[in-house]
Amino acid sequence: MEKTIRNIQDVYDMLDAEFRSAKQFWEPFYEDRSRPIPFFPNKPDENLVAHVNSGLLTGGKALELGCGPGRNAIYLTREGYQVDAYDLSETAIAWAKERANEEQLAVNFECRSVFELSPHAEYDLVYDSGCLHHLLPHQRIPYLEMIYSALRPGGYFGMTCFAPGFGGMGGPETVMDDWDVYREKSMKGGLAFTEEKLRYMLEEPFECVELRPMKTMNQEDAEFGIPILWVTLWKKRDA
Ligand SMILES: C[S@@+](CC[C@H](N)C(=O)[O-])C[C@H]1O[C@@H](n2cnc3c(N)ncnc32)[C@H](O)[C@@H]1O
Repeated sequence: MEKTIRNIQDVYDMLDAEFRSAKQFWEPFYEDRSRPIPFFPNKPDENLVAHVNSGLLTGGKALELGCGPGRNAIYLTREGYQVDAYDLSETAIAWAKERANEEQLAVNFECRSVFELSPHAEYDLVYDSGCLHHLLPHQRIPYLEMIYSALRPGGYFGMTCFAPGFGGMGGPETVMDDWDVYREKSMKGGLAFTEEKLRYMLEEPFECVELRPMKTMNQEDAEFGIPILWVTLWKKRDA
C-alpha cells in the first residue's frame, strides 16, 4: 500500500524518516574509548551525587535512558538502587557491562531504544543525562509520556541537557526553534534549551525541584560536571 497516515505514530514515522538514524551516529561513537569525550570517564553527574548525599534520592528502582557506557547507572547501583539502563548503542552497552562486571555490580544494561519501552509505575527515579537533547522535537511527546508512566507516584525525573551559549565546546551557541529543526533537517549536534523552554515542556506533568547550571568539576574530582549543561530534577505530579 502507498504511504498512508492513519494515526499519530504514522506522523512520527514520517518525521523520523526525514533524518539520519540515531543508531548510525551513536554506534561508532563509542568504538575508540581513548577519545577525550568529557562523559567517557566512569564518574557520576555531580547533581545526582548531591541528591543522593542530601537524602532526597533514597534508593529503590531506577531507570536510566540513553545510559551510554553506564557511569550513572553504575553509581546508582553502588548506592543501592536496582537499575535498568538502556542505550541504542551495542558498543556503549558492552562497555557498560564490562565496567559493572569489574566491580561485580548487577546492573540490567540492555541495548534498546527508549521508544521500545513501556514501563508502568515501576520506578522511583528516571534519569537522563544527555539523551533528550539528541531527540527530535516530536519524539519528546512519546518520550515524556513514557517517563511519566514509568514513575511511581511521587517519583523523580532527573536530567541534564544543553544550555545555550556554549558553542565550540560541543554545546550549541543558541536555542534552535523547534520548527527550524524540520526546515533545516538537522539538530546541529544537539538542541539547547532555555530555562523557559524546559519549564514549558516539563511543568505540566512534573513539579520542578531543581533547575540550575551544572557545576564545573575538574579532572581530579570524583564527579562529572561541565558548565554547558543544565541539571534539573522534577517530581511526578498526580494525574
Ligand atoms: C550524550 S550521550 C550520553 C551518554 C550517557 N548518558 C552519559 O552521560 O555518559 C547520549 C546517549 O543517548 C543515546 N541515545 C540516543 N537516542 C537514543 C534512543 N532513541 N534510545 C536509547 N538511547 C539513545 C545515545 O546512544 C548516547 O549513548
